[in-house]
Amino acid sequence: MSFLSKHSILEKNATLLLICSLAVVMVGGIVEIAPLFYLENTIEKVEGVRPYSPLELAGRNIYIREGCYVCHSQMIRPFRDEVERYGHYSLAAESMYDHPFQWGSKRTGPDLARVGGRYSNEWHVQHLIRPRDVVPESIMPQYGFLLDRPLNAKTIAEDIKTNVLVGVPYTQDMIDNALDDLKTQATPDADTAGLLSRYPKAKTGDFDGNPNQITEMDALIAYLQVLGTLVDFSTYDQSPNAR
Ligand code: HEC
Repeated sequence: MSFLSKHSILEKNATLLLICSLAVVMVGGIVEIAPLFYLENTIEKVEGVRPYSPLELAGRNIYIREGCYVCHSQMIRPFRDEVERYGHYSLAAESMYDHPFQWGSKRTGPDLARVGGRYSNEWHVQHLIRPRDVVPESIMPQYGFLLDRPLNAKTIAEDIKTNVLVGVPYTQDMIDNALDDLKTQATPDADTAGLLSRYPKAKTGDFDGNPNQITEMDALIAYLQVLGTLVDFSTYDQSPNAR
């Protein structure tokens, strides 16, 4: 029997064809997927990337709760126009501790992956209270109510433990100090040595203009101010085609 006539058996028998097609697809699938289980990490580590500090993590929760991702992405693509506007394209490692990640798929507003340090805390407060006071043509909603809402920090240690469950490398020391670290980061003139040893480059001080209370606004701005600031890109090639 020639090869061609053997093949015609397959072509004439739908069930056999289906079974053989499945077998072929399965082999392809296993070849692609199996190695991933044996790799320790599929993401290349990048110096500077660390888990969020407790205050930043709390702010991130508010970012998600308020649906900021509906209008804002956090993913700079390696295209010239994006790199010129926003800065170095996003690296996979930069969102490796984001659960869930905030890449987003819609840009009604600008990408926020590198917004940290671009504006002052005062600017953010003003902008979140009334976006049109600082950007007259803005269509962003107002979030001034965050100033009146004390941050619920009671669950922050639990929150961090949950992140540990999904693989974020918080240490026991970080869990034990979670609430203290959260308060320290938002308190002007506090002793920040412990906080900064656990979370290098964390921005500290009063974020919302009201030093007497830690509000949801404090947490949200602490989060915005850390975005894109952990990796030192001065040593990276900025050209869009560089890898
Ligand atoms: C309905 C869409 C929409 C939502 C929801 C939204 N924004 Fe915006 N955002 C915009 C638009 C449009 C702009 C550009 C105009 C401006 O700066 O106000 C913007 C701008 C910004 C900027 C300035 C970015 C830059 O590089 O100039 C920040 C920061 C920001 N938004 C944060 C937030 C946060 C935090 C939330 C959630 C609490 C949020 N936005 C929710 C539409 C939105």
